[in-house]
Amino acid sequence: MNTLPSEIRLYDLHPSDADIRSDVLEGLARRPKQLPSKYFYDARGSELFECICEQPEYYLTRAEIALMRTHAAAIGAALGPHALLLEYGSGSGTKTGLLLEHLPEVAAYVPVEISRSALTESVARLSERFADIQMLPVCADFTQPITLPQPARRPARTVIYFPGSTIGNFSADQAVQLLTQMRRAMGRNGAALIGVDLVKSPQRIEAAYNDAAGVTAEFTLNLLTRLNRELGANFDLGAFRHRARYHPERERIETYIISRCEQQVRVGGHRVHFAAGEAMRVELSCKYSPASFAHIATRADLSVSDLWTDAEGLFSVQCLRPAGAPG
Ligand code: AVJ
Repeated sequence: MNTLPSEIRLYDLHPSDADIRSDVLEGLARRPKQLPSKYFYDARGSELFECICEQPEYYLTRAEIALMRTHAAAIGAALGPHALLLEYGSGSGTKTGLLLEHLPEVAAYVPVEISRSALTESVARLSERFADIQMLPVCADFTQPITLPQPARRPARTVIYFPGSTIGNFSADQAVQLLTQMRRAMGRNGAALIGVDLVKSPQRIEAAYNDAAGVTAEFTLNLLTRLNRELGANFDLGAFRHRARYHPERERIETYIISRCEQQVRVGGHRVHFAAGEAMRVELSCKYSPASFAHIATRADLSVSDLWTDAEGLFSVQCLRPAGAPG
């Protein structure tokens, strides 16, 4: 199956059941109730996400891959040689492959990914294609402080790769916090390469999170299946439904799990009450204009040195550097 080549060791800092339990109980105690979207990505969730990427309505992944195919050489040149490539939320690694092909003399590749299965599968594939690049996979929640493994070769710079518009899952304040953490990790001559979905027609955005085949709905509700399995919860999947709406004034999709009826659910030894129609927020997917993302970057003491888009102008990949840094 998806085992790593013997020379590659996995640094496994996957959140424990106790971490998941306390995060979930904390979210369920809020009003309105809320669950962290990072827990979507168990093995099944990662598989369903890959399936979302193939839906005709979900334009993000296709646009970002098209962008990378067109601009990877320019991106690689802008980032420079001998980089340690640190990737947050590496997922399937398709875009990483396009970047590694054009990044000169990579010192090491350090993917940080919360889904153990997605991480081992992608590193197994990439290590075959890029046999000369040292790969140091870390299974962890990248929002938590983590001690990174040391590469064998000394890198000239740190490049952080954060593709897929995962930045959109954070509120503006959280995004500023995360970018600040990235600025500290990249150092003075480092850079961050960030995939950012762009503001566009609300219909187009909303359709991407409500595919006709119902894959996104299944992805959303899989979170409850996971809690049933890992926390011994007893969510009745038929008694909840997915709802994703675009809020143009907030420029973001808000995804909720809605209780279809009044009910009690057991979660991690607690009894949780849901009113009929009660909405529990499970995900944000924020959209940015070039100006609004530049503003977020500035708040983190970073500035946008380059911005690439796909031919249709749906998606952007932006290079951020410490404010005042040369080039
Ligand atoms: C991988 C987090 C960027 O928010 O667009 C896709 C996840 N959720 N459909 C996104 C997702 C519902 C996706 N990210």
